[in-house]
This record gives sequence, structure tokens and C-alpha cells, in this order.
Amino acid sequence: MTTPTIELKPSSHPLSDAEREQILAAPGFGRHFTDHMVTIRWTEGRGWHDGQLVPYGPLSLDPATNVLHYAQEIFEGLKAYRQPDGSVAMFRPDANARRFQASARRLAMPELPVETFIEACDLLVEQDKKWVPAHGGEESLYLRPFMIATEVGLGVKPANEYLFVVIASPAGAYFAGGVKPVSIWLSEDRVRAVPGGMGDAKTGGNYAASLLAQAEAAVHGCDQVAYLDAVEHKWVEELGGMNLYFVYGDKIVTPTLTGSLLAGVTRDSLLSVARDLGFESEEARVSIDRWRADTENGTLTEVFACGTAAVITPVGTVKSAGGEWTQSDGEPGKVTLKLREALLDIQRGVADDKHGWMHQL
Ligand code: COI
Repeated sequence: MTTPTIELKPSSHPLSDAEREQILAAPGFGRHFTDHMVTIRWTEGRGWHDGQLVPYGPLSLDPATNVLHYAQEIFEGLKAYRQPDGSVAMFRPDANARRFQASARRLAMPELPVETFIEACDLLVEQDKKWVPAHGGEESLYLRPFMIATEVGLGVKPANEYLFVVIASPAGAYFAGGVKPVSIWLSEDRVRAVPGGMGDAKTGGNYAASLLAQAEAAVHGCDQVAYLDAVEHKWVEELGGMNLYFVYGDKIVTPTLTGSLLAGVTRDSLLSVARDLGFESEEARVSIDRWRADTENGTLTEVFACGTAAVITPVGTVKSAGGEWTQSDGEPGKVTLKLREALLDIQRGVADDKHGWMHQL
């Protein structure tokens, strides 16, 4: 397979400096997009075509385009941070590229070479560098690579054409409350994913499957929903779009990847960051009964959620049909905040990148 090259067609109508600065002053999450995007087509027989870096804009799709009916779609989320010297670096794009390949395999889609994934992200960030927020805060440029089936037709089969796209969005806190603890609704009857299903692939269908329970969480006054496994309705899996960590004093525990959870890049990074800080970290199955009992007997000292968009977010109150309880008196826990700062310091380029995670542009 030949590696595609990407042709540059910069925008003739980028936003003005003043408009961009106004957005960067309070970017929110996922509301504003930069001036460009990268697109690369794949067709059966030919494989990956050369890509294009073009002005950000609508995609034109035939109403019978496969993805609109059968959801053959995958995506990623990764961040670029302004470094102390003004340069820009991305956090672990190779990990996202490999997970994108794994998601592609699960959805019978072609695998984009890792180097092409990274090159597409590099080119977009380089072109739209002015959109990367200033160094020092928590803001970053969030990249959203995705791939859709673009064959036109209603037959249910792997498509013979695909489009890979990368867009970028300046990002502040994912939750409006910042590091304020989020409340969790424990969904005991709805499940996010099943064994043998797509739970470990980053595909829109998993997020669609989480929306009803998310709406139910809101009805119960909660910010997020937590899912249990689909077979025994006993083992804690993840939130709708984030992994979970349980803090037992100086040990952090995250649910084992059983195949129905997403292998989060932040989740994986924290296993190492925690060890670097002198904590123990491990993957284990955690039951909902243990979650509650260990909170009540005081051994489970903190719980937090983690993901690229939300970084690390403390968990406060947990509600379920059977009752409710609160972690760390509803305050952000000390270990949670320490891990959060340590990870952000690596991403912002103020701590030693001992794992070689930062990809400098
Ligand atoms: C991310 O954390 O990057 C995700 O893809 C989760 C999404 C719900 C924003």
C-alpha cells in the first residue's frame, strides 16, 4: 500500500484575528471549529487516495449514503497543547491512530496507516496553529478525526468507499463546572455494550446507545450515567464517554478491559502517571456492591472519571434506584487533583515527558 500524500488548499476566508480571539477567550467544548479540515478518500481497488487540506465546510452526501442508514462510522479525540516556548505538541497521537485502526477493524472499514493519521493531524494543526489556545491554562485544540462509509446504496454490507476527515475545535472545560465533581446516575437496566459487541470500538453507535440513559440521568438530577456489564448487571464498566477510576488510599483501580469498554488513552496514561507519582495502579473488575460498600466503610476514598475531552473529573454523588451515596464529601479528592495536575503538566510541557508521549510539531 502506498502512503497517501496530502495536498494543501488553504482557506481564502479564514476568520479574522479578532473573531478568533473572541472565540479563544471562552471556547467551551465542541462549539467552534478552525478554518480548515483534512479529507482523505478510500475506494475499493485503489485504497487510500491522496488527501486534501481544505477550508472547513459542509460535506455533501447523497441521502442514500451508507453511513446515514447503517452507522458505519468511527472517530477519535485527541488534543494539541501550546507549549511554554510557543510551539505546539499533541498528546499521544500514535495511541489514537492505533485505536482508530482497531475501531476500523471492528467495523469492517479500511485501516488508515498510523503515519497518515498523524500527518493529517500535524498538517491541520500546523495550518490552524493560531487556533491553539495560549500556554498555561487547561485549554487546548481538540482534534476530531473520523471516518464514514460513503458508498451510496441501501445494501447492508461493508461499504466500498470511505471518507476520513479531521476537524479541530478549540476546547475549554468539557463540563461547565470545571473540576467541580459530577453526579452519576447508575443505570441498572440499560446497558451501553454487550460481550462481542462494539463497546471497545470508538464508534458513534455506542454514544447513540448511551443517550437515553443519559437523558434518564438528567431526569434524576445527574450529570452523567455509569453503566454496568450487560450479563450480570454487576460489574462497573464506564460512563457514556469516559472511563472510571477508584482511589483506595494510595492505590488507583480502573475496570479491566473486558471487550465492552473503551480502552481510553487517558485511562492508559494514568496507569503510568500514578506509578510515577508513587501510587499503585491496577486494572480489576469492580462490582457495584463493592463501590458502595467500600465508600461506606471508608476504604474507597475517591472516584474520578477520565477521558481526552474531560481530562480528569471528580465524581461526587452517585444515585441508583437502590439509593445514593457521596464520594469524598462531594469535594474533588486530593489524589484526583494530583493526578490531574501531573497529567496536564506533561501535556502543557512543564513536566518531564519521561514516557515520550508528546508529539512536537
Ligand atoms: C473524548 O474524550 O475525546 C471523547 O471522545 C468523548 C466524547 C464524549 C467527547
